[in-house]
Amino acid sequence: MDIAITGDPLVDCDSYRIAQALGNLVRNAVQHGEGAVGVCARCQEQQVTVEVHNGAAPIPQEAMATLFYPFSRRDEGTTGLGLGLHIVQAIVRAHGGTVGVSSSLKEGTTFEMCWAKAHSRSDDVLWRRGPTPPVTPTP
Ligand SMILES: Nc1ncnc2c1ncn2[C@@H]1O[C@H](COP(=O)(O)OP(=O)(O)OP(=O)(O)O)[C@@H](O)[C@H]1O
Ligand SMILES: [Mg+2]
Repeated sequence: MDIAITGDPLVDCDSYRIAQALGNLVRNAVQHGEGAVGVCARCQEQQVTVEVHNGAAPIPQEAMATLFYPFSRRDEGTTGLGLGLHIVQAIVRAHGGTVGVSSSLKEGTTFEMCWAKAHSRSDDVLWRRGPTPPVTPTP
């Protein structure tokens, strides 16, 4: 896997959830793509962009409109439910950002998450982790 990070990586975000979103994209690149996976994070002054790239046959144009819908799984060879991209989108939207995808035979497939660098966390995010619940000992 090729990983490149540019800029100041100190970013205001829910790191647990952003890591979950990145994990979903990398897992997809490994499961549904071919060849090397590339991860590139660009931390600019105003915004953060994280791209995950893989090769293989492009995602068909007709699948693009529903790709981020829940249960929009296309790959019969895998056992996933088709929720990974929906979760990625929900997490990035909760940060006030956007997720994009480009896919072609020549360039391969790239998913891109982008959000504003500062003050980008939403306080009413359902996804936010609350305090860790106390562990009740079993009798
Ligand atoms: N990087 C990728 N390259 C090619 N196709 C992809 C890629 N990422 C997603 N897809 C296609 O989009 C579909 C939806 O992806 P999504 O992550 O939502 O579900 P999944 O990977 O099938 O299952 P889950 O993520 O719930 O385990 C996949 O089934 C696959 O066909
Ligand atoms: Mg997936």
